[in-house]
Amino acid sequence: MKNSKTLKIGLFGGSGRMGQNVETVVVETKQDPYLFVGKTKSENFFFSVTDLKNTEEDILKDVDVWVEFTSPEGLFELIECTPYGTPIVSGSTGLSDKQFAALKKESAKRPLFWASNMSLGLWAFRKALESFSSISNFDFAVEEIHHTLKKDKPGGTALTLQKDLEKIVNKKIETPQAHRLGGIFGMHTVYAASQNELITFQHQALNRKVFAEGAVQAALWLSEQKNGFYSMDDMLSKGVK
Ligand SMILES: NC(=O)c1ccc[n+]([C@@H]2O[C@H](COP(=O)([O-])OP(=O)(O)OC[C@H]3O[C@@H](n4cnc5c(N)ncnc54)[C@H](OP(=O)(O)O)[C@@H]3O)[C@@H](O)[C@H]2O)c1
Repeated sequence: MKNSKTLKIGLFGGSGRMGQNVETVVVETKQDPYLFVGKTKSENFFFSVTDLKNTEEDILKDVDVWVEFTSPEGLFELIECTPYGTPIVSGSTGLSDKQFAALKKESAKRPLFWASNMSLGLWAFRKALESFSSISNFDFAVEEIHHTLKKDKPGGTALTLQKDLEKIVNKKIETPQAHRLGGIFGMHTVYAASQNELITFQHQALNRKVFAEGAVQAALWLSEQKNGFYSMDDMLSKGVK
């Protein structure tokens, strides 16, 4: 991971499953673990607070870039509490169309990065689907499996894959089949079938760190961008640094 600049990182959702992995990656990549927001305390971050709303303005203003994995409500709380143009990388899923529209509006005032899946491999998987444009007459389906604690169903990545496919093959694709099983971090399968053949593309996340690494990489990248709404495509289409 490119690591030429040290950034003061604000982590919102620090006590959650993703937040804990982001904390590890922030330390490993030698960023400046500055402000941790979560219900537990962090030994690595300089400040640990439980509540964004009661955090001193001077501390909030000093954050170079936020990494947030909470919920749609959490993301908008972060936006409301930090009206200083500080860049935000958000991995929260389950946003409504109205919330996406509000996010895009907010990106006129600060750089905002959102991805339903922060894994670099998943992005390559999405690019591979483009080859299906030449067999658009096939039948297509998207399937996903996640751990039982995941709240949105189908998840954000499955919906992203459905949307991608619909653009690529220029027809409607059925809503993804979603299963909630055990502790699976995330498994996405795309089927393409004709009467004579079946193609199966599958991506499996082997741990949560893969998403945390992508999010921290996005934070480094985003800190150098002007105001606007960005996704994995913007960061990776010219090749991983
Ligand atoms: N984009 C990706 O690559 C990716 C990968 C994995 C997960 N995700 C998404 O990231 C989000 C978090 O996932 P997770 O597995 O880390 O969940 P989690 O373990 O439940 O952690 C979420 C954390 O955020 C806190 N939180 C939630 N809403 C909040 C709010 N309104 N204000 C303050 N704190 C709030 C929770 O605190 P409490 O426990 O006190 O509520 C919890 O500590 C989900 O939307 C998930 O789908 C995205």
